[in-house]
Amino acid sequence: MPDLLTHPLHIPAAWRGAEIESDPSWIYTLDAAVVQELQAALAAVEQSGQDLLKITSQDFTLPSFAETRLHLLADLEGGRGFALIRGLPVDSAEKQAAMLFWGLGTHLGTPEPQDAAGNFLHHVRDTGRDLSQDDVRKYQTSQDIPFHNDGSDIFMLLCLRNAKSGGSSRLISSTAVFNEITRRRTDLAEILQQPFPFDARGQQPPGQPRAQVVPIYNYHQGHLSTIHKRFYIDLAQRFPEVPRLTPPQVEALDLFDEICAEPAMYLEFDMRPGDILAANNYDILHCRTAFEDHEDPGRRRHMMRLWLTLPTARPLPPSFEHTREFQHSYARRQHDKTEKG
Ligand SMILES: [Fe+2]
Repeated sequence: MPDLLTHPLHIPAAWRGAEIESDPSWIYTLDAAVVQELQAALAAVEQSGQDLLKITSQDFTLPSFAETRLHLLADLEGGRGFALIRGLPVDSAEKQAAMLFWGLGTHLGTPEPQDAAGNFLHHVRDTGRDLSQDDVRKYQTSQDIPFHNDGSDIFMLLCLRNAKSGGSSRLISSTAVFNEITRRRTDLAEILQQPFPFDARGQQPPGQPRAQVVPIYNYHQGHLSTIHKRFYIDLAQRFPEVPRLTPPQVEALDLFDEICAEPAMYLEFDMRPGDILAANNYDILHCRTAFEDHEDPGRRRHMMRLWLTLPTARPLPPSFEHTREFQHSYARRQHDKTEKG
């Protein structure tokens, strides 16, 4: 069992949106030397005919990115938990943009599969399908997506094209939310450290139930790691084998939502083409407002997404071992531990 955390945590990842707005150090702009190296690396991998999924950081050498890489890693684990990398040259074709994105991503971590089918690169766009179909996930629609986390240690989201309107991003520190809950209702902070059932949307590891049961806040070896998706907790209630949420559980979820809706708590911004958002899933929740797309299919909103295990990441609580989100990062930790003997 994870430890029980009963006091606020004062760490760099416990920020409020209002503080970040006055400090632009979360935005990194790729300089001309890095862009040149990215383009040279792209030309080399294209010439060698290498498959995207096989490209490693050794195939994509970026010496001028070394210092920024260290800053980013320090931000992503142990720092504020997120960063925006601006200026990836994405005016070329989709395939080239994917290679640049992947190549840069391999300098921060190891790409992991994002679904049961084993896809490593997801396209985030409106597919026209809706959540009444069991295999559809929120990112495949144009609906607003409330605060949640993705999978693996970090996610990276590259903006290729914006929507006609809407589709803004919001980030919130899940530790800052915890601190607020602890200040207002210690009893509910404790409830959130007990298991909740989540609809796994058909993406659960083989042999695992369709609703995964895990606490929202997990305090393990001095780290507070979060998994939260209210909409999948609510959707899991349709399964007869899942216990009904208790009134205190609903109260805890409502307080969580209430704090997430307070403008001083979150950071809101719009991504531009060529921007990459990178965020630690255990520290940061993200949200997207609903959007309206362009008529022309070639101009519609399009993001690409990677899930990565970080080389510098924290120990994970055992409760994450069989979650569809964190199973791969968990297994990689175990594997690396065995390798080191
Ligand atoms: Fe997401």
